[in-house]
Amino acid sequence: MNNFIYDIPTKVFFGKGQIRHLPQQIAEVGKRVLLVYGGGSIKRSGLYEEIVSLLKQNQIDWQELPGVQANPKIDSVREGIALMRQHQLDCVVAVGGGSTLDCAKAICAGVDYDGDPWELVMDPSRVKTCRPLITVLTMAATGSEMDNIAVISNPQTRDKKGFSSYGMFPRCSILDPVYTFSVPASQTAAGTADIMSHVMESYFDQVHGAAVQDGFSEAMLKTCIHYAPIALRKPDDYEARANLMWTASMAINGLNSLGKNRAWSCHPMEHVLSAYYDITHGVGLAILTPRWMKQVLCEETVDQLARFAWNVWDVDPAMEKQAAAEEGIRRLYQFFLELGIPMTLPEVGIDETLLEEMAAKAAQSDYTRAFYPLSGKDILAIFQACMKSMI
Ligand code: NZQ
Ligand code: ZN
Repeated sequence: MNNFIYDIPTKVFFGKGQIRHLPQQIAEVGKRVLLVYGGGSIKRSGLYEEIVSLLKQNQIDWQELPGVQANPKIDSVREGIALMRQHQLDCVVAVGGGSTLDCAKAICAGVDYDGDPWELVMDPSRVKTCRPLITVLTMAATGSEMDNIAVISNPQTRDKKGFSSYGMFPRCSILDPVYTFSVPASQTAAGTADIMSHVMESYFDQVHGAAVQDGFSEAMLKTCIHYAPIALRKPDDYEARANLMWTASMAINGLNSLGKNRAWSCHPMEHVLSAYYDITHGVGLAILTPRWMKQVLCEETVDQLARFAWNVWDVDPAMEKQAAAEEGIRRLYQFFLELGIPMTLPEVGIDETLLEEMAAKAAQSDYTRAFYPLSGKDILAIFQACMKSMI
């Protein structure tokens, strides 16, 4: 196990009705807030009204940045920074999914930066101060509510890039599973694939002997496999939504990854796909992951892939390890299919045209410490395998 520091400064208020803590949490950092949200789901669900009435009752002034898009764009970050400066706001309250939260984090990092915020995305060492961020999560997926990462897209340069700095951890996050009852089936499924991918990116790693981390990973994967179909059948099943929500937060906050290399493989490939085609992040991951597993299955990786099959998918322990590993990959693919996720690139509007260009871009990431090193040729082979069904 590698050395690590475990330090997550985010206070979590989990469960029904925890929104009542919002005014006090704001009062601890100021009186004037920027309310950041997405394309309108919080208005339809009534959450917007609930928050606005809490702000009014507590004499908290606010400005709004609505309309943050999925795969948040750098222009929304610029807009938010301008509002913070113009109205001399103290902190940011982000209400929504990962896109809204990430946009808010970049705003918090950019307010006191004397330059364009895209420079921070490209070089996070320039982030010196961050305004306080409070999040109210409405969708279980990215874990942005408990990590310090923001993933921002720049359509001009066709880049989508994660950046992080310690100050970007939310100061507090309010996680009420009831807010996720209205998440549509397609996003529930995509969110589950994202959670599982965050777990798998660390579970499949060159560092061995991190038994407790790998045990956490297996429990988290089994939780998703059990509860996602329930949430799809019955969107207001509190137990299912609560388990998915808490797993999402745990999946990327270091619990299963600290002490390991944390060198991811599928995310850098997916970020290129969604930078070029603006696809849903979790869908891109679901399509890529089983093909990536198949591409890297070899003598060096077969033990961990077989363990995944036996411990996560309950594949017959008597099965020989190569066959077990292949069966685990097949079951993962089948699971995503049964969640209703489109499992090929053409189904999400991606054809062969830019595969080589995207593979070359994805190859710029460093995969040397990843579970299995990937070359540009490997990435292209993975993209090509995504063009047709695996079954
Ligand atoms: O925009 P609104 O109207 O709110 O609708 C959203 C959006 O259309 C909707 N939604 C969210 N909560 C809802 C709801 N609809 C009904 N009821 C609710 N309660 O769902 C759609 C997707 O929202 P989005 O925020 O884009 O989804 P997600 O949470 O999956 O975030 C994806 C973004 O996060 C990045 C991804 O790359 C992508 O840009 N990631 C962030 C990470 C991080 N910060 O650590 C790590 C991840 O690996 C990921 O890269
Ligand atoms: Zn992700």
